[in-house]
Amino acid sequence: MPIKKICCIGAGYVGGPTCSVIALKCPNIMVTVVDKSKERIAQWNSDKLPIYEPGLDDVVKKCKGVNLFFSVDIEKGIREADLIFISVNTPTKTFGNGKGRAADLKYVEGAARMIADIADEDKIVVEKSTVPVRAAESIMNILRANHKPGVSYQILSNPEFLSEGTAIDNLLNADRVLIGGEDTKEGLAAVEELCWVYEHWIPRKNILTTNTWSSELSKLAANAFLAQRISSINSLSAVCEATGADVSEVARAVGRDSRIGPKFLQASVGFGGSCFQKDILNLVYICECLNLPEVAAYWQQVIDINEYQKSRFSAKVIGSLFNTVTDKKIALLGFAFKKDTGDTRESPAIHVAKTLLDEGAKLHIYDPKVESAQIIEDLTYAIDDYHVKKSVSLYNDAYSATAGTHAIVVCTEWDEFITLDYKNIYNAMMKPAYVFDGRNILDHDKLMKIGFEVHSIGKQMQRCGVKRTWGSMNQM
Ligand code: UDX
Ligand code: ADP
Repeated sequence: MPIKKICCIGAGYVGGPTCSVIALKCPNIMVTVVDKSKERIAQWNSDKLPIYEPGLDDVVKKCKGVNLFFSVDIEKGIREADLIFISVNTPTKTFGNGKGRAADLKYVEGAARMIADIADEDKIVVEKSTVPVRAAESIMNILRANHKPGVSYQILSNPEFLSEGTAIDNLLNADRVLIGGEDTKEGLAAVEELCWVYEHWIPRKNILTTNTWSSELSKLAANAFLAQRISSINSLSAVCEATGADVSEVARAVGRDSRIGPKFLQASVGFGGSCFQKDILNLVYICECLNLPEVAAYWQQVIDINEYQKSRFSAKVIGSLFNTVTDKKIALLGFAFKKDTGDTRESPAIHVAKTLLDEGAKLHIYDPKVESAQIIEDLTYAIDDYHVKKSVSLYNDAYSATAGTHAIVVCTEWDEFITLDYKNIYNAMMKPAYVFDGRNILDHDKLMKIGFEVHSIGKQMQRCGVKRTWGSMNQM
């Protein structure tokens, strides 16, 4: 029986875009995305979607009301569906056993219990959320212990590899789709059903099928490998600053080895986003539980270097500004964890902003897509209401944000920051005027010619014929 109706529990960054693309490519399937948040569903049903993602508006416009629906009627969604995606959040636990590392599966468990309560026909239940290895087993235990008579379930793992900012392209042209299932007749049949959905637009050779645990672990492994590359190049950026090597040149030379490849070697202020840190911490926790402390320590280093990089960058901003930023105005350009998204989860900008605020700086913040309320919420959570009210001002453009400031700190690699009129910006700033390019996106030579003191990641800057490292700043 081909799938006719899909329900997705969770209308977030994963569930929303994924199901929109499924609806676009499978006009013969009715897709309903449900969420317990009335506000989120109302946003999906309005003209202003709850997430900013290039290309998403067009896809949603084409399908909404045709074969794509957003609803708070979770019960109806579950009851009518042949296949249910669980796309709820799996944050890191903030208390109890595994605090700060283990994934909190309360939302996944909540979704599984709802399915068991409501479903009165057989269902294929698909884990889309990133979960620890063997989470499918827990879902199965809940479903089998609570199922209604005659109702049976198949659990599949189908992790999502989309990356924010390029989600629609990633979904339309996926490198691969991964589907894990039980090695039984029914399990393999369920895998085939989900393959059929993706085969509407993904070539069969790009759909990988594995056992459930391999699929679950592959998702954690892929994120760990990607984050590891960033921590590797970031660790070398510190060596570059100390030696006069240039991290961009090193990355280019290393990346030309076809075995290594050029992607994900952009040194930065540190990686952010909802996945990398969470998934690696989860992997570390799993390794510890499996009594594999050496493996746990290996992956923990990826996180430790990321923390080091964020702290190192923030400390150098302060060090360069004569070791005090108290009452200095500093423009923070970019607050999202990367360009082309309004998402701020684990954004390195939060770490930088917190450190500068702790030191008494006045922050002028501008991000092209992050909502003001989100910036205030993040900083209030990171510091406190008093500091935020006293020392944070939000701006609608980079020119007003930088006017009258001592320094510009680039935290997100938004394209529009590259083409700003820095001559005008320089004229409106305090002198000496500093630029700290936490993403290495600006034309540093041009900025230095204008008169800026420029600091970037993994490069010694040359000015007036003198090479200077971050370490030598304080002696200026
Ligand atoms: C990531 C994975 O890429 C995706 O496959 C998975 O499904 C979810 O997690 P995402 O977090 O959306 O996606 O963004 P990604 O492009 O991976 O960037 C993560 C962070 O790394 C960002 O803060 C980004 O700025 C940073 N980054 C990325 C670097 O600092 N340098 C790089 O070379 C690449
Ligand atoms: P992700 O980035 O993994 O998509 P989000 O936090 O953006 O995570 O989205 C997860 C969504 O799942 C949220 O909108 C949340 O309200 C929703 N959610 C969590 N638990 C349930 C549940 N039991 N039923 C319906 N929706 C849920």
